[in-house]
Amino acid sequence: MARPHIEFVQTQNVDWSIGANGLAEKVLNADPQSTDATLILRYPAGYSAPARNDAMPAEEYFVLEGSIAIGSRICGLHAYGFLPGGADTPARATKDGATVLIFRHAEGDTNSLADIAERVEIDTPNMPWDVSTYDPKLNHLRLARKVLRLGPNDSCRTFLLAGMPHGTPEDSELPAETHDHCEEMFMISGSMWAPEGLMQPGAYFFRPPNIVHGPHVSEYGFFQIMRSPMANRIVTHWSDETRPIPIGSAYAPILPEGTPESWARPWSPAPNF
Ligand SMILES: [Fe+2]
Repeated sequence: MARPHIEFVQTQNVDWSIGANGLAEKVLNADPQSTDATLILRYPAGYSAPARNDAMPAEEYFVLEGSIAIGSRICGLHAYGFLPGGADTPARATKDGATVLIFRHAEGDTNSLADIAERVEIDTPNMPWDVSTYDPKLNHLRLARKVLRLGPNDSCRTFLLAGMPHGTPEDSELPAETHDHCEEMFMISGSMWAPEGLMQPGAYFFRPPNIVHGPHVSEYGFFQIMRSPMANRIVTHWSDETRPIPIGSAYAPILPEGTPESWARPWSPAPNF
């Protein structure tokens, strides 16, 4: 089994499930036959869990809000890390609470185990943006990126992607894209139009290989964390036909079978003005 296509859900519409010690979780997408999953964990103020010497599946984490100690590392806003699989489970503790995005790898995935995959700890706000390598067909988005992790054996790249406001082309139509690898995105801030609607903060998608998608444009700019499972380098095949610029598209998500109805609700933030 593989992970299902979801494009896209506003994670505000996904209910929390509350577990031990008040730890709340939202599972956004998962392979039903392995531990491979993406979830949001909300650690309540005062949460503390000791280190355990049972092995955990590999995990990437990204702090969305608050601050949490993972082992000896104090992780503040937008701290990113990779904990290889098969190693001990580190202690976690937070005084004031934290919300953390987790990319959990499949247990036993040889590319994520401690003997091949290196531990990563990055305070991403201190990294410089790389504006050097974007695809000319995405020029209208005025992109910048911070590469956080390149997996062994071309297994997955994790990166932050930002686009400037006014990321809209002069053309009224643009080509669509496909990839041979998966693509996964969580919207940290800003917004981006897609044919499936307007992705706002908290939007999430997981796209298996060979799904035709886009075009994407952004009126207000955006800041995302993305992954490309199955590849360290994004390779895009552009369609010959073009599609209309999706500004104004109604929310029309592609959701896996069995998804709760609440996930498909249109979502609007509180007014800014
Ligand atoms: Fe893409």
